Amino acid sequence: MEYHITQYDLEQGALEIQYIEEFFGEFPRKKTAAEIVRRLSGRRHLILLATAPLPDDGLVVPVSFKVGHEITLGETEPKLADIVHRLSDNIQFPGRRILYTWIGGTRRDWRGQGFFRALTEQQESWAIEQGFDEIVVKTKNKFYEMRGTLDHLRFEVVKYERNTGDNAESKVYLSKKLLPEMVRRHRSARSVVEIRN
Ligand SMILES: CC(C)(COP(=O)(O)OP(=O)(O)OC[C@H]1O[C@@H](n2cnc3c(N)ncnc32)[C@H](O)[C@@H]1OP(=O)(O)O)[C@@H](O)C(=O)NCCC(=O)NCCS
Repeated sequence: MEYHITQYDLEQGALEIQYIEEFFGEFPRKKTAAEIVRRLSGRRHLILLATAPLPDDGLVVPVSFKVGHEITLGETEPKLADIVHRLSDNIQFPGRRILYTWIGGTRRDWRGQGFFRALTEQQESWAIEQGFDEIVVKTKNKFYEMRGTLDHLRFEVVKYERNTGDNAESKVYLSKKLLPEMVRRHRSARSVVEIRN
């Protein structure tokens, strides 16, 4: 199977992500396009969506997405400064480029068909090309599907932050160090279209 991936520019990508997030009923806090633009403007980022045809009428729709952006020691935006601070003992920032996978997921009916692997592999290829050294991601103990998936995708746990009230809410940080030869081990066949303004 070949996965069809689109790499979006910021404005259109933000609208596409807002649209696809509407399908994630399980998460109460959906990102708006404005929030996405605010977060990604002025920082190196990658917005990827995979599309597939609907089974009934063949209409091609976005089914999976992944958004990442660079994080640095110089972050001033409070949320990002906090993440960098929490990771600074576990991830080496000085002299290295770190890509943070901010949001992502696959619509329920398309899960387990390799879409997220395809997006992850595409993100890795792009990140290596762009000179990134490591990809980091944050999840929670209770996100079992995401934890299982990150395990299959060979992310390693770098930090665990216990929530004393409820361990299911504890945060888990994972990372993957990037090496050029990784690209040869990628498994998914992909066609990628880039949309630019
Ligand atoms: C996690 C999620 C993105 C996986 O997407 P997906 O498109 O189904 O993933 P893929 O089919 O590409 O699977 C990638 C790998 O993970 C494995 N995997 C997928 N779902 C899994 C699960 N529930 N448990 C264990 N492994 C899983 C697959 O077997 C595959 O491994 P392989 O390539 O070695 O065979 C999807 O289930 C999802 O969107 N879940 C909700 C999102 C979420 O939990 N967000 C929380 C915020 S972090």
